[in-house]
Amino acid sequence: HAPLRVALVGLGTVGGGVIRLLNTNAALIARRAGCPVQVVAISARDRNKDRGVDLSPYEWVDDMNSLATRDDIDVVVELIGGSDGPALTLARHCLNAGKPFVTANKAMLAHHGLDLARLAEKGGIALKYEAAVAGGIPVIKGMREGAAANEISRVYGILNGTCNYILTTMEKEGRGFDEVLKEAQELGYAEADPSFDIDGVDAAHKLTILASLAFGTELDFAAVATTGIRHVIAADIAEAAALGFRIRLVGMAQNGADGLFQRVHPMLVPLDHPLAHVDGSLNAVVAEGNFVGRLFFQGRGAGDGPTASAVVADLIDVARDEYGDAFAMPVAALTPQNTADAGAR
Ligand code: NAP
Ligand code: HSE
Repeated sequence: HAPLRVALVGLGTVGGGVIRLLNTNAALIARRAGCPVQVVAISARDRNKDRGVDLSPYEWVDDMNSLATRDDIDVVVELIGGSDGPALTLARHCLNAGKPFVTANKAMLAHHGLDLARLAEKGGIALKYEAAVAGGIPVIKGMREGAAANEISRVYGILNGTCNYILTTMEKEGRGFDEVLKEAQELGYAEADPSFDIDGVDAAHKLTILASLAFGTELDFAAVATTGIRHVIAADIAEAAALGFRIRLVGMAQNGADGLFQRVHPMLVPLDHPLAHVDGSLNAVVAEGNFVGRLFFQGRGAGDGPTASAVVADLIDVARDEYGDAFAMPVAALTPQNTADAGAR
């Protein structure tokens, strides 16, 4: 099939990761997508910045909004960030123009997801956002598809890699908050403004999205009661440990008699709960469904590789929407199994 032609807007931690992943796994991705997935156009703020990847094969575009109406672009990927501003303008341009749109931008979705979903629905346009919640964990697909038949009573988890990295590194290595935050920034985990991480706002953005998927409710960021980890000190962690707990920043949405209850705050997690063993930049999401029981998703929640993995999964989805995917790749691309003893059985 003809390639899926991608425009990539935003070439930072995640954008760079997407280019590296598409280059490294090009053949495998083409088989799974049913066609090659090729970046053809790129855009960011600074054309001359050295990004550690070869950008010479791609067309640089100054006016990112022009991508929305270009016939030689099949899908636009937004990796700029920010709830409003250029990311939102680009999303609106794309969805109004009928251009499939992939984003990792949970801030934008938490604040404007409903409007964007309406636009996408009106035009029958793909709006995909696997990378927006819990980095590389396929929790959007898990909740949207895997758990779709269930009534969910509760969804909760560790939704911010930066905070989890800070809390667990402070605990294990006895290092100070500021020093570990700086390291999380260097590792590409933190938001451009890390106060979004440490004040719990990023986790609240993600919980807003998860709650909507879990309960079929409108996204409502303002309804999430949010406290971050800025004031957690080493003594808090030590005292929690002495009592048999670990401190984790947990986001939780629960449907009860009084309605939907959504909150993000540092919690004391008992050692016998799986969340107490989610370390470093890992995230985990627990969902409780009335038929499936307890689902537990865990994986790397931040950083270039895991996040790029989720973005490219969405691109493969966009391609599959066109070509079909019952066994996760076109039938013609499936290879015979290498099972020498199959005949004997
Ligand atoms: P980043 O490293 O700060 O990169 C942002 C990119 O956007 C940069 O290339 C920057 O251009 C570009 N940009 C910023 N403002 C722009 C503007 N006004 N016009 C054009 N380009 C602009 O951010 P990131 O970590 O890759 O995150 C990108 C998105 O993914 C955000 O929505 C973030 O929340 C989300 N996300 C990140 C992670 C993660 O682990 N990092 C995980 C999941 C989701 P220049 O490079 O030219 O300055
Ligand atoms: N800053 C976010 C985090 C990136 O630390 O979890 C992943 O969404």
